[in-house]
Amino acid sequence: MPKLSGRIVVASHNAGKVREIGELLAPFGVEAISAAALNLAEPEETEATFVGNAELKARAAADASGLPALADDSGLEVFALERAPGVYSARWAGPGGDFNVAMARVWRELEKRGASDHRARFVCVLALAQPNGAVESFEGEAPGHVVRPPRGDKGFGYDPIFVPDGHTKTFAEMTPDEKLPLTHRARAFAKLLAALR
Ligand code: IMP
Repeated sequence: MPKLSGRIVVASHNAGKVREIGELLAPFGVEAISAAALNLAEPEETEATFVGNAELKARAAADASGLPALADDSGLEVFALERAPGVYSARWAGPGGDFNVAMARVWRELEKRGASDHRARFVCVLALAQPNGAVESFEGEAPGHVVRPPRGDKGFGYDPIFVPDGHTKTFAEMTPDEKLPLTHRARAFAKLLAALR
């Protein structure tokens, strides 16, 4: 059974993810330390699944720090694109991490296929690794659809083209307080908490 107390390394170098995970951990009195603050190297994501990459990142951070580590692997799945970009969501932004490029590519690929189905979902796997070798993973999803042109300047990544089911604003038009409870990340975190009980 994993523990959620004391100090935990948030094994991500993505500022948006670190902020959201920090907000999720805040009510538990956990001291969240980012991998960047500990100068931990960012491992290459060599796995083909969200679970594989989340566990790889959590394991590397727990081994390097001697502390429990929580890692997030996440991405956008567009159904008409056979769930691309999926685990390659960060890579579609290119070496410069330009998400305008990645969002434009989503729409270019949909146009190429003449796809009228714009359904999509964000997926997040949170992996909690212990320094003793134990690791557990929890998956959450946020169903919705993609829109264009991109709208809003809050959030990060693909937020400006994603509207969650039951809403009209994109994630990037929502305040952090509006967005967070609707996210794949919060839903994965709820499963992690349920496993602790
Ligand atoms: P990775 O998990 O480091 O491979 O990166 C996942 C990528 O998916 C991020 O760089 C974002 O572009 C995208 N992503 C994951 N979660 C979100 C989110 O909540 N909003 C927008 N984009 C996201």
